[in-house]
Amino acid sequence: MILIGGFATRLRPLSCTRPKALFPILNKPLLQWTFERLAEDGIKEVILAVNHQAEVFIKEQKIPKNGLKITYSRDPLKKPLGTGGPIKKAEKLVGHDSPFLVLNGDIFADINYKEIFKTHEKENAMATIALHNVKDPSKYGVAELVKGNYIKKFVEKPPRKFAPSNLINAGVYVLSPEIFELIPKARKVSIEREVFPKLAEEGRLCGYILEGLWIDIGEPREFLEINKTLLNSLVPLEEHKARGRGKIKEPVAFDKNVSTGRQSVIGPYVVLGRNVTIGNSVCIKDSVVFPDAVISDFSIVNGSIIGEGAMIGKKVEINSGCIVGDHVKIRDNVTLSRGVSVCPAKEVSKSVLKPRYIV
Ligand code: GDD
Ligand code: MG
Repeated sequence: MILIGGFATRLRPLSCTRPKALFPILNKPLLQWTFERLAEDGIKEVILAVNHQAEVFIKEQKIPKNGLKITYSRDPLKKPLGTGGPIKKAEKLVGHDSPFLVLNGDIFADINYKEIFKTHEKENAMATIALHNVKDPSKYGVAELVKGNYIKKFVEKPPRKFAPSNLINAGVYVLSPEIFELIPKARKVSIEREVFPKLAEEGRLCGYILEGLWIDIGEPREFLEINKTLLNSLVPLEEHKARGRGKIKEPVAFDKNVSTGRQSVIGPYVVLGRNVTIGNSVCIKDSVVFPDAVISDFSIVNGSIIGEGAMIGKKVEINSGCIVGDHVKIRDNVTLSRGVSVCPAKEVSKSVLKPRYIV
């Protein structure tokens, strides 16, 4: 089961128009990366636990299913069920036959699902959580692991000084069907606050250390970071090979039908989505540009995210940490200083010289 609800407030305005699970990571929706990995590890069926809006967006995207059977389980309209409620709601769909996998839909994890199932079975746990080592655990669920893979204590988002360790909940669980008895029905439930701490006390919660790449794309910086990390580690596929006029500084990834103009300098660390059009003498680095955006002559984009179908005029300067929403129009000669966010479909005709949210 993949949990896809919630409101990604820190990724606004791009999350106004797509759930985090659909953010393109190296031009491929996060959910597609997850489907591919699940299929590789022999998973056959996926339940998407969604809210109404997420369901609409996912269906629109037509993500390749890799042979997986996909079923939707919806939260009631305007009544989000949290991270535990959707699991309880899907009880009949999941059945009671065997342990099952639950994933937070907003994380990118290089994990072997077969291995976490093995740990779960070996330890005979009620729940096994993938754990990942991070510097600052305070934004996450934190686990104290004791000998034999058991979790002695689980706390959700503790103040930094009270975090029992640096091992955080990576948002990947194997649960045994008995878990259904512990989740209250028909209301919002936080599995991290209401279920895991109790299981830990009772010695029925296990940990599985995830050593590979793991990232939660909660913030724009993390979103740019994961694209950068993958640009560094993946050899570009044939279809992502950068072609075009101007100078290309690898690593970069271009989706289909990208065009770049004369004397432009693209890269390093630039991802251009499908049909992106770049004018002449444009400089872009450390940025992700979503599909169908246009960046016109003599503009500069640095360390920013440009939304789908955005139209950036001539001689525009976009400085680091800016997020330009989908279908925004930025007029010629405008400068956006650091940290400016622009809501979808807005038109910006004057420079913005302080970090601001333009609505
Ligand atoms: N269907 C549905 N309904 N899904 C939901 C709802 C809801 O009401 N609320 C949240 N979700 C989904 C989110 O879309 C996300 O994929 C997942 O459940 C986790 O919710 P977040 O809101 O993203 O939680 P978080 O990031 O603050 O914390 C969680 O993830 C961390 C790892 O990234 C917790 O599980 C932490 O313990 C964990 O460390
Ligand atoms: Mg999250």
